[in-house]
Amino acid sequence: MNVTDIRGRSRTAPSAAQTADLTVVGGAGHVGVPLVLAFASKGSSVNVNDLNEDTLTTLKGGRLPFIEHGADELLTKALKDKRLFFTSKPSEISTKGPVIITIGTPVDKFLNPERKVIQDCIDALLPHLHDGQLLVLRSTLYPGTTDWIDGHIKSNGRKLKVAFCPERIVQGFGIEELGRMPQIISGTTREAEEEAANLFKQVAPELVTLAPIEAEFAKLFNNAYRYIEFAVTNQFYLIAKSAGLDYHRILGAMKHNYPRAKNIPRPGFAAGPCLVKDTMQLLAFASNEFGLGNTAILVNEGLPLHVINALKRDYDLTKMSIGLLGMAFKPEIDDVRSSLSYKFKKSLAGQAREVLTTDPFVTTDPELLPLDEVIARADLLILCTPHQCYKSADLKGKPVADVWGFLEKANVVY
Ligand SMILES: NC(=O)c1ccc[n+]([C@@H]2O[C@H](COP(=O)([O-])OP(=O)(O)OC[C@H]3O[C@@H](n4cnc5c(N)ncnc54)[C@H](O)[C@@H]3O)[C@@H](O)[C@H]2O)c1
Repeated sequence: MNVTDIRGRSRTAPSAAQTADLTVVGGAGHVGVPLVLAFASKGSSVNVNDLNEDTLTTLKGGRLPFIEHGADELLTKALKDKRLFFTSKPSEISTKGPVIITIGTPVDKFLNPERKVIQDCIDALLPHLHDGQLLVLRSTLYPGTTDWIDGHIKSNGRKLKVAFCPERIVQGFGIEELGRMPQIISGTTREAEEEAANLFKQVAPELVTLAPIEAEFAKLFNNAYRYIEFAVTNQFYLIAKSAGLDYHRILGAMKHNYPRAKNIPRPGFAAGPCLVKDTMQLLAFASNEFGLGNTAILVNEGLPLHVINALKRDYDLTKMSIGLLGMAFKPEIDDVRSSLSYKFKKSLAGQAREVLTTDPFVTTDPELLPLDEVIARADLLILCTPHQCYKSADLKGKPVADVWGFLEKANVVY
């Protein structure tokens, strides 16, 4: 619609999306969706800006593009209250409120951070952002990126308030965690920090303030620490196994009423889109001198290969159908990004007679079969992802490899 301003000049009136209280760029992604819904549930109107038109259409239709526990009701309500706008172009962002960026920040083929992704995103948004507007980076960033982006924006003669407020939710449970966990806030100026704090206090119960580079490290240290924890327990598992012992029995005793051991995770396949990638970012920052991180990658990524080698000692896999239970990267979600189940699949494809896969949640893999069929056809099963439904499944006495110690009544052979 054309309107005339007070000087009589004709201009295009801003759309409803452009006057939304805030914009989330990457708003249809795993981090974006819970954040969008958290703000909408507090009464804000949100411009959900994402390049992926398919996921925008899914959201617009009241459906979630992936499993996000507790999000269905919030999405229905936000749509009913007309709090969400869906846009796919940088030119359609809100010119009024803060712009929060939640796009993916991968590592490249050399396992180094891919800064260009975030730079390209900012460069595309820059002509449509107004000086004085708050730009919040929420994606996980390589140390120094926030200050670098701030300098890049200034070198373009622009004056934005730049903040970095990392997302720390565990995937699939963002709705619950956003309302419960402290939010780290940082800004390249006091003004940016204060505006970011005012924004996030709407959805977070507590704020913790750091300098941008400290906040970038805090996020990476959080993820690398978690990844190393998994590696420690996986390494203990392998050591106990090599001694012919049941690590789960030992771990149970270690943790029993012993507070200092209560956080040791059970062994299992630790993967997904964040933990390995963020450990690699720290590794890159430390010029590869991050021995613990490096070893954690070797242990966690090596575990499937270790299981296959152990099974090969007892079975002739070339004559067997192997069934993989669970293809998502962790239980009760549908996300297969960087899932070690696919490492199993690829590795076994050249070694077993046949590899069959199943998962009750994953909808994106056309090769998946129903659980009953996999159990019926497989000679040997591997529990890749401990979805709850496998606990009660009748595995028909088939031998199963269960690193997790999850299947209590099954014929566990490894
Ligand atoms: N997944 C998690 O649980 C989690 C938790 C904490 C932090 N993080 C971090 O958050 C970031 C996002 O992760 P994710 O899992 O949500 O990724 P994702 O791939 O699920 O979502 C990213 C979204 O951004 C969109 N996008 C990409 N480039 C865009 C652009 N230029 N303009 C508009 N939209 C664009 C994509 O279409 C996608 O929908 C990463 O840095 C990740 O490390 C993820």
